[in-house]
Amino acid sequence: MSRRIGILTGGGDCPGLNNAIKWVVKTAARYNEKLPPDRRFEVIGFRDGWAGPINYSSKYPVLPAGQDFFGGHHARILDEMVVRSWDRQGGTCIGSSRTNPFAKGSDLWMEVVRSYRELDLYCLIALGGDDTQSVTWKLHEKGLNVLTIPKTIDGDLAGTEYTLGFDTAVNVIVEEVDRLRSTAASHGRIMVVEAMGRHAGHLALAGGAAAGADVVLIPEVPFKPERVAELVKARMGGGARYCVVVAAEGALIEGKGHVSKEADGKDEFGHVLLGGVGRYLEEYLTQALGADVRSVILSHLQRGGVPSSWDRRAGRLFGIAAMDLVVEGRFGMMASMKDGRIAAGPIPAAEKNMVLVDAARAYDADRYQPALTVLRDLK
Ligand code: F6P
Repeated sequence: MSRRIGILTGGGDCPGLNNAIKWVVKTAARYNEKLPPDRRFEVIGFRDGWAGPINYSSKYPVLPAGQDFFGGHHARILDEMVVRSWDRQGGTCIGSSRTNPFAKGSDLWMEVVRSYRELDLYCLIALGGDDTQSVTWKLHEKGLNVLTIPKTIDGDLAGTEYTLGFDTAVNVIVEEVDRLRSTAASHGRIMVVEAMGRHAGHLALAGGAAAGADVVLIPEVPFKPERVAELVKARMGGGARYCVVVAAEGALIEGKGHVSKEADGKDEFGHVLLGGVGRYLEEYLTQALGADVRSVILSHLQRGGVPSSWDRRAGRLFGIAAMDLVVEGRFGMMASMKDGRIAAGPIPAAEKNMVLVDAARAYDADRYQPALTVLRDLK
């Protein structure tokens, strides 16, 4: 009997997930070359995040390699041939969902444990952001061998300097701002671009910096609408024909809070749906400046498309690292990045395992800009 490794992708998808899966499978195959048959690894992909192991039933057995999920099947074998071309594809080829096995009042986690036992898994690798990480840790506490790989375009997960998907999402912001520049310049318009990132400003800040946005608004520093108007006016008065504002979806108006769609409800992990700041600023700046303003919500465009070269490499490195951890039997760990190198540390267990922008260092709270002092810590 081989050693079975379950793998799943939880939460919002992002480019880079397939790369990590591919390299888990390929690294397992390389290890297998030196292992006796009964010690070899077999990788099983679960369908749609935690919904996979929750819904797995022996009535619908694990599908053979090459057979995609269908009907009631929630697990499939992944081999080198299956994942061969996955690294060029965005999203996740095994599907994802925001299913929470520990949702209040539910015992769904027991179904995960049941599937783990029924499938005789050696370990489970979960690729995910803050929610998936904390769920995986809880399962570790329930006695399962688990490992994680970090991903989220928000770039806000504790315990790692990099999360898959972030670089591709930053590139999308840059590409879209570049596109908006030509039309904004032609019409002398102000463009407000709403970026994702939930309660953290990493994505808006990195995207705004790389795109050369004139004003960047992040959730960590509530903004004054009148100051945004002042900055935009100064930029237009300085001879520029247009202006680009990048606002994080979670940006807060000073003294008022979120322009959120809280009324629209929450997801299974209790997150409110953020958004609306772009539209708010469009209306505010139109009124305040009598200017021609348009807003663009980048939304899921930031999560779509093929992975950037860095996300391809990071996915590969995280996948290899996860398999190294499996071989070393170091469970309860997350493959991560530390000091610019691939590392491993404990799974960020806390439900509030997000790291926000260190605004005092990285942000100019007067000019609403990425800080211009980057070397200040160097002696
Ligand atoms: O966490 C990733 C993220 O893309 C956030 O930036 C965004 O707020 C949220 O997911 C959107 O979630 P959904 O895909 O469920 O609409």
